[in-house]
Amino acid sequence: MKQRVLILDFGGQYDRLIARRVRECGVYSEVWPCSSPIEAIREFDPVGLIFTGGPGSVYAPDAPDVDMGVFSMGIPILGICYGCQLLAHRLGGEVTPAQSDTAREYGKTETEFRTDSALFRGLPEKSVTWMSHGDYMARVPDGFRVIARSAACPNAAVADEKRRFYGVQFHPEVRHTRYGTEMLRHFLFDVCGAAGGWSMDSFRERAVRELREKIGDGRVLLALSGGVDSSVCAALLSEAVGRQLTCVFVDHGLLRRDEGDEVEAAFAGRELNFIRVDAAGRFLSRLSGVTEPEQKRKIIGEEFIRVFEEESRKLGTVDYLAQGTIYPDVIESGLGNAAVIKSHHNVGGLPEHVDFREILEPLRLLFKDEVRQLGRELGLPETLVSRQPFPGPGLAIRVIGEVTGEKLRILRAADAVFREEIDRAGLGAAASQYFAALTDMHSVGVMGDGRSYDSAVALRAVATEDFMTADWVRLPYDLLDRVSTRIVNEVPGVNRVFYDITSKPPATVEYE
Ligand code: XMP
Repeated sequence: MKQRVLILDFGGQYDRLIARRVRECGVYSEVWPCSSPIEAIREFDPVGLIFTGGPGSVYAPDAPDVDMGVFSMGIPILGICYGCQLLAHRLGGEVTPAQSDTAREYGKTETEFRTDSALFRGLPEKSVTWMSHGDYMARVPDGFRVIARSAACPNAAVADEKRRFYGVQFHPEVRHTRYGTEMLRHFLFDVCGAAGGWSMDSFRERAVRELREKIGDGRVLLALSGGVDSSVCAALLSEAVGRQLTCVFVDHGLLRRDEGDEVEAAFAGRELNFIRVDAAGRFLSRLSGVTEPEQKRKIIGEEFIRVFEEESRKLGTVDYLAQGTIYPDVIESGLGNAAVIKSHHNVGGLPEHVDFREILEPLRLLFKDEVRQLGRELGLPETLVSRQPFPGPGLAIRVIGEVTGEKLRILRAADAVFREEIDRAGLGAAASQYFAALTDMHSVGVMGDGRSYDSAVALRAVATEDFMTADWVRLPYDLLDRVSTRIVNEVPGVNRVFYDITSKPPATVEYE
């Protein structure tokens, strides 16, 4: 199966996007640091290399660089933005800072293409690209010709068609580049001759086969949180090794309405040992009287590990501990290559005293949407597969102040109403996360003929790409009206409903 492409990362902001686009084209790709040793790159045996963008200048003292050996591997290279400048710089061209503001380009740029080049064949001669660069190629290296230009940048793309090296100043991976995906397809299929056909289905088959070979007749233990990643990981391992897998689902009593039962039901008919530990009482008693958010988180984290350890000790020896680590976690930790990936388990908050031989991370090369796709292929219910992110400490960080059973009851009921109404209105896709929180405020109201002195519920719906920043979603007034009326009518103990209209920053998504 010779169809892998290797993406060398120079620190650009769109690196992951490139990998996703390549995979969307049916070609398997991985992102590695640009400093990866040439031997490892050769061993990976890619059909082509892509150099990503990056924030620096190729002339900076510690500019990210690549082993010169890549240029003599005899495979095609596509350099994007910084990657393009590096290609030019290393092969004898000249890169300079743009002399004037007019030569710097940011954003949508009208660009002209030479459509006799393999990269742009069959595309219109003029269209829009997304540029974002300060430096540009002042002189094209020998053997290269210019295949695109824009008003400010006479060398917007270059090609050495003999060696199959291509460089583009713009970002084909970004949707704003009108024909970006077509350009990537041309590079992958026409230039690299990739076979294509990589899909979740083929991933599943291969992963199951490899897991069986590796695990043999060993035993595997997995902490199942009910989130997408650990659930898909469990389903995959169950398909691979059946009852050699034990999943421990610690129900800390801080899940949303019916969530624990949904997780259990999703695994009911499968080959695996499923242990659900009802630890709600333990968690509540440890949280009793605690109001400080960080302390709450710490207690929940510790208690989780304690319960998990107790359960796993009952099982005796296990050979493997499985984890639902996914690709963004791996890339984010700045790892990206096989040698260091193993240290990743240290960041997962894993129990230290569980004896096991090795960590298994069967999803570690998949993006979130690929994990969801795999979950569907494995027959997990849509409610679980498309679940919105839910924090490990659960509802405890959505109850402001001390957590009690009564407050959890109120919050669960209000949250269920809000989510149900959003889903019914078909607005789920507009928000990345939407939930209710229980404030610690009490206020006076009038209900029927009497005075009430009850709690206030806050509703939050945010849209975000990466959860680092988020904006509140402009939900329709009539929807908010319906939700508010229903919550006050249906949930005893609530007499006021607020809608949170703060973005992140300055607020955060969660309340604690
Ligand atoms: P914040 O509140 O930091 O949330 O803006 C950003 C994203 O992270 C999730 N989140 C957590 N997830 N454990 C988790 O697994 C946590 O302690 C935690 N705190 C926040 C939050 O739901 C949002 O998606």
